[in-house]
Amino acid sequence: MLVSGRSVLLTAALTLAAGSAAAQSQFEKYQKMVAEGSPVELFELVGEGLWKKPQGPKNASLEQCDLGLGAGVLQGAYARLPRYFRDVDRVMDLETRMLHCMMTLQGRSLEEATKRLFGNADKPSEMEYLSAYVAGQSRGHAMAPGQSHPREQAAYELGRKLYFYRTGLWDFSCASCHGEEGKRIRMSELPVLYKPEAARPLIATWPAYRVSNSTFKTMQWRINNCFRQMRTPEPVFGSEVVNAMNMFLTVTAQGEPYRGPGTKR
Ligand code: HEC
Repeated sequence: MLVSGRSVLLTAALTLAAGSAAAQSQFEKYQKMVAEGSPVELFELVGEGLWKKPQGPKNASLEQCDLGLGAGVLQGAYARLPRYFRDVDRVMDLETRMLHCMMTLQGRSLEEATKRLFGNADKPSEMEYLSAYVAGQSRGHAMAPGQSHPREQAAYELGRKLYFYRTGLWDFSCASCHGEEGKRIRMSELPVLYKPEAARPLIATWPAYRVSNSTFKTMQWRINNCFRQMRTPEPVFGSEVVNAMNMFLTVTAQGEPYRGPGTKR
C-alpha cells in the first residue's frame, strides 16, 4: 500500500516540481524524504509547490491568499481558523478559505479547484496537499479559532447543536458514536469529542495521513465521512454545516499546541 501511495506521490512531486526554478532542490529534498519514509512531509512539499504555482484563468499563485493574518502570511494562520472573514461576511475554515482564494485570485471554478488529481474519488485533490503545507506552518501554535465576532459565536452554537442533533435514516447524532467514554467500532475507539480532554490531542493533529488507506485526509473529509456514517446526505464542500462543526470541535480543542499534520490509523 505504502509503496503504491509513494509512486503516485513521486509522480505528483515530479510533475509539480518540474519547471519551477527550485525544481532541483525540491527533487533532492524529495529523495531525502522518501529515504526517511515520511509521507506527511511529502504532502507538505507537494503542497508548497502547488501554493506557489501560477494556475487558473488568471495565471496566479496562491501566495497572496489571506488566511486571516494578512495576504501571504502562513505562520500560525491555520491555528487561528476557523474565523470570520469580513470580505465575504462569513466564517471559513482552511479549506473553504483556500477554495475562496482559488476562485478569486486564480479565477478557477469550484468544480475544477476541487477535482481529484490522478482520477478516482479516493485520490487526493489539491486541497489535501495544500492543507498539509499550510497547516504545517502552525506547528507549535496554540489552537485559537475566532470567537469574538457574532458570526463566530453563531457558528460555534450551530456546531454544538448539530453535534447532539439526531437525524437521518438511523436517527443518529455525532454523540450517538462520540458521546460516551469507552465506545468502539471494530478497531476504532470513539473519542468523546465534545470534551476538551478528548478533542484537544485529536483535533490538533488534523489534517492527517491515514495509514489504513495510505492517503492524506483533510478535516472536511473527516467530518463529511462521519456524516456518511450517520447515513445523512453528505454536506457540500465548504458548507455552513461543516464550517460550524469544525468551529465547535476546534473551540473545544482550543489551547492545544498544533502538532500536525498527524499520522492516524
Ligand atoms: C456511526 C458512528 C459515528 C458517528 C455517528 C459519527 N462518527 Fe465520527 N468517527 C467514527 C469512527 C468509527 C471514527 C474513527 C475512524 C478511524 O479510526 O479511522 C470516527 C472519527 C471521527 C473523528 C476523528 C478523531 C481522530 O481520531 O482524530 C472526528 C473529528 C469525528 N469522527 C467527528 C464526527 C462528527 C463531527 C460527527 C457528527 C457529524 C461524527 N463524527 C459522527 C464513527 C462515527
